[in-house]
Amino acid sequence: MSPTDPAFATACVRNRHTAKGPVHPHREAIYPTSAFGYPDTASAMALFEDREQGYVYGRWGNPTCDAAAEAIADLECAGAPELREQVGARLFASGMAAIASALLAFAGPGERILVQRQLYGGTDELFRRWLEPRGIGRISVDLNDPAALAQALAQKPVAVYVETPSNPMLECVDLPALASALRAHAGGGAGGGRPIPLVVDNTFATPWAQRPLQLGADVVLHSTTKFLNGHGSALGGCVVSRDRDWLNGPLFDQLKLLGAVPSPFDAWLLLGGIKTLDVRMERQCANAMVLAGWLSGHAAVSAVHYLGLDGHPFHQLASRQMRGFGAMLSFEVAGGLEAGIRLMDQVRVCTLATTLGTVDTLIQHPASMTHAPVPAGERAAAGISDGLVRLSVGLEAVEDLQADLDQGLSDPGR
Ligand SMILES: Cc1ncc(COP(=O)(O)O)c(C=O)c1O
Repeated sequence: MSPTDPAFATACVRNRHTAKGPVHPHREAIYPTSAFGYPDTASAMALFEDREQGYVYGRWGNPTCDAAAEAIADLECAGAPELREQVGARLFASGMAAIASALLAFAGPGERILVQRQLYGGTDELFRRWLEPRGIGRISVDLNDPAALAQALAQKPVAVYVETPSNPMLECVDLPALASALRAHAGGGAGGGRPIPLVVDNTFATPWAQRPLQLGADVVLHSTTKFLNGHGSALGGCVVSRDRDWLNGPLFDQLKLLGAVPSPFDAWLLLGGIKTLDVRMERQCANAMVLAGWLSGHAAVSAVHYLGLDGHPFHQLASRQMRGFGAMLSFEVAGGLEAGIRLMDQVRVCTLATTLGTVDTLIQHPASMTHAPVPAGERAAAGISDGLVRLSVGLEAVEDLQADLDQGLSDPGR
């Protein structure tokens, strides 16, 4: 793990010029247009017949959106210029649009996707309520368990989908080990040939902390709504792949035909957010480490879940494949539901909100907020205790965050 990463730091701030002609704006230009004109019929024909590259209609592409997608590809390939030559990216209207489009670009009815056990609730719901009823199944196992993985691969999944670290419990999957198992499976299989594609949701780690393509994955996707935008100002999603034929073929079809295209304004906000990603992540991860250590010794806290703590079950794995431990942590308030609600009502520096990855610290209490409608037994089975609190750690002075949480955790009755 290197404390500084020159290639990444410089890639973050670089302007991606989208303007043509005599005007040279310092920042990327925004093209708020639904269509693009042609100087004459011959030029239009060249575009429509794919003899020339260009822009035709907003649902098929926009320079500001493409600039943001390319910026994310740069970050995922920072330090690996040869990989960058192969890799392309596409921007979507939200993280869920990116996930759904990628899965639909790999799987059709009667086919199955191999996934890890714990996934972001929206992705889980996508499988349960949309893909599975339409015949696209999932095989769900512990992907770090070689025996379980071998059994799952024998069922011939068409893609492997992983979220590492996962939301909210920070489960990690060993990406180099999984990628090499997929390569070995392809080599040993009756048909030989191409390994099953490995798709990774890198939203929690961001390319600052982890670059799955450089660890053997084929596709990386993001909810750019979170750390990449960083300011909570726009929804967005991105898919980055080392297979340009897949990006320009099946994936582009999902974007073009289902129409989950991003707005150029939102892409521009994302481009602005990316410029400070390096410094934001450095400070947010450092703040998270301090808070995790401090909360571990707090009398009102019974457990802290943070990848940077030695006792976390995935600490060793995260140390191997990540440059830092991220800015997400959760902890259990000893007084359960009542103490959790009191903490939410008393914090003044932290903001109660269910998103994550913004410059300010966000706090949420699943038992009284996102998971309140879920029966208590089901919540417990998913590892969500009544006292569990999730923090997305921001850029504030860490002393102010400690003071805020401390007053929220103190029991007025004691
Ligand atoms: C890990 C992860 N992936 C994907 C998403 C979905 O992103 P969006 O809300 O931008 O659709 C989220 C949202 O919280 C998430 O946490």
